[in-house]
Amino acid sequence: LGRAGLRKLNFSSGPAVLPEEVLRRAQEALWDLDGSGIGILEHSHRGKEFGRVLDRTEAAIREVGSIGDEFAVLFETAGATHHFALIPQNFLSRDATADYCHTGIWSGKAIDEAKRVGNVHVVCSGEANNFATTPTLCTYSPSPRYVHYTSNETIYGTQWASPPQGAPAPLICDASSDIFSRPLPLAGHGLIYAGAQKNLGPSGISLVIARRDFIASGNTDLSPLAQYRTYEAERSMHNTPNTFGVFVIGEVCRWILDNGGLAAMAERNARKAKLLYDALDASKVWRGHATPESRSLMNVTFRGTTKDLEEQLLARCESEGLSGLRGHRSVGGLRASIYNAFPEDGVRRLVTLMHEFER
Ligand SMILES: Cc1ncc(COP(=O)(O)O)c(C=O)c1O
Repeated sequence: LGRAGLRKLNFSSGPAVLPEEVLRRAQEALWDLDGSGIGILEHSHRGKEFGRVLDRTEAAIREVGSIGDEFAVLFETAGATHHFALIPQNFLSRDATADYCHTGIWSGKAIDEAKRVGNVHVVCSGEANNFATTPTLCTYSPSPRYVHYTSNETIYGTQWASPPQGAPAPLICDASSDIFSRPLPLAGHGLIYAGAQKNLGPSGISLVIARRDFIASGNTDLSPLAQYRTYEAERSMHNTPNTFGVFVIGEVCRWILDNGGLAAMAERNARKAKLLYDALDASKVWRGHATPESRSLMNVTFRGTTKDLEEQLLARCESEGLSGLRGHRSVGGLRASIYNAFPEDGVRRLVTLMHEFER
């Protein structure tokens, strides 16, 4: 258990575990932001104190992701699902086509939203084998407006090892469940979006990293809050932003920098995931869902040989303070979400329990 023995090991898929240092700093800032005598929840978003928070959060995001000025960094008071709709509204039209990689439930939802606006061409699909594999062969349409993919499929536990190759249009990435877990692949991307509640901070806010020229190419006949250009022009302050969310994202990014940046995150995440995948590969009773080349380093999904065994392991985990391991209903079994802030020792605890059960 965590500090003071009070905190469980939180394997939740999101909202998810945050670094303890960040929680402590947030706790202090709730009471008194930067010695101002007013808490972060109470400060005006137009005041200089929050202005400094916004500045340092954007600066930290840019430093973490090595993001140049050709990209805008935006905060929206919305989850990733909101962007499923905003993206086609901004960049698609009735006669145009967008290409979508279909790797699971989240890409499916994004596709449904795009179909409301224009034509959708599915360039690859993992549906035939219950989304256990991320297809690498993409067949693009002749001139798509953009190519959308979900870098990490949170539910099935699959991940693109690298972005789709050879796209004939800007890539758009739903990076909700693996942003900042490894170096950010900006090349070829028009826009990357992520709901914050896994690797970045609290729910109710999303981060958008978008090329300024791509934003400028968007439709202009939408209400201001539905246009990415409004967030760019007004530094995400057209209306009151999620000020606390911006603060926490800034602290998380500072924690990433203090802990070696994205290269170090990637190394640690690979090590943590390997502990679990090695255990699955060596096991006769536990079996991973994702095929080896598509395995997610963030969400490890697995089944037991019987449902009873799965239930017993889940119950034992709960009783030992290992929480949030029940798999999504579409895959069943167990899912260990091991985002940046999840401790390596916690993964070892789970592996030890899996071994014990097998014996
Ligand atoms: C990959 C992915 N995309 C989108 C979403 C939806 O995010 P939100 O609930 O913030 O709308 C999730 C949520 O878990 C997700 O994992």
